[in-house]
Amino acid sequence: MNLFDVYPLFNITPTKAKDVWVYDENDNQYLDLYGGHAVISIGHSHPQYVKNISDQLKNLGFYSNSIKNPLQEELAERIIELSGSNDYKLFLCNSGAEANENALKLASFHTGNKKIIAFKNGFHGRTSAAVAATDNSKIIAPINAQQQALFFDLGDIESVEHSVKKGAVCAVIIECIQGVGGLDESTTIFYQSLEKICNKHNVMLIADEVQSGFGRTGDFFAFQKHNITPDIISMAKGMGNGFPVGGILIHQKIKANYGLLGTTFGGNHLACKASLSVLEVLKKEQLMQNVNTVSQYFIEKAKTLPKLKQIKGRGLMLGLEFDFPIAELRKALIYKHKIFTGNSKNANLLRILPPLTIQKQHLDILFDALNKEL
Ligand SMILES: Cc1ncc(COP(=O)(O)O)c(C=O)c1O
Repeated sequence: MNLFDVYPLFNITPTKAKDVWVYDENDNQYLDLYGGHAVISIGHSHPQYVKNISDQLKNLGFYSNSIKNPLQEELAERIIELSGSNDYKLFLCNSGAEANENALKLASFHTGNKKIIAFKNGFHGRTSAAVAATDNSKIIAPINAQQQALFFDLGDIESVEHSVKKGAVCAVIIECIQGVGGLDESTTIFYQSLEKICNKHNVMLIADEVQSGFGRTGDFFAFQKHNITPDIISMAKGMGNGFPVGGILIHQKIKANYGLLGTTFGGNHLACKASLSVLEVLKKEQLMQNVNTVSQYFIEKAKTLPKLKQIKGRGLMLGLEFDFPIAELRKALIYKHKIFTGNSKNANLLRILPPLTIQKQHLDILFDALNKEL
């Protein structure tokens, strides 16, 4: 193998995909309840998405951020319109880690401080500050460990307040629903208290919506359920339906100046078209409503499963926690039943992250398979 061997691979080679279905080289059909790790939002190869990106490529695929790109303006307007996040400006980049890296950097520029507060079981990506704010010592290299990140239990508001009061904190970064960590979510009181403490001490509150944003939870952003106003919102995965695009929404209290942030590829024409297509389809096909309908159906059906400890998450960011490790079950789902699902840091949790176009009858296929295996 000539590839740097960092991924344990399932022995499947997808060659094409359509909506919620993925096909391998032998034309075997797989039901995609993983969405390529919460990336596929409007369904694989959605015709509008394919058309818009192809048309754009015929005209202009890329030019640099030193010229005008009206697609970026249009994307900012559409995100603000659909999310209702009016007081923000958009900066575009290429991935979730990069979005969080820029968010943390901006918080540090704005406050003049260095310390980051993050939460146990959180995941924010693999770049320098983002990985330092990630609760996984295995992926933090010595060069990242020089960053000053403090980790608290999700919900432990006293420790956060105590630490913020000591000073030197630039940001509190949080996933309102933890993705990789296993779908834990705290209370509205906790998120609102966090917001209050950050405001009082001029600490930037960063909502990491890389996985939960762009409609996955049934709200445009997961934090909206808790009625808070983060200072910076990071986005990626579902934003491009597979096209690499990330971004941060920056509250207008944080001022821009030339050179503060920058990127070669971020916000390129194809990326903007991909994300605009996602927003167009989300709205036209009322996918956030679909998320809520299908999610309720999932929860009702899941309640009847044997050996189930807990149903976690919301919208289509869901987890089934069993009273045993799910690795073998996940293998059986893939190889026997041809269903992709996800795992998490919690070995007993099967994660369900389908395209937001999924329908009830697709979930029936999952529950039939689970009832056979359990
Ligand atoms: C919440 C969250 N933040 C950040 C990231 C990192 O995103 P990327 O892999 O695009 O760098 C992920 C990826 O799983 C994530 O789930």
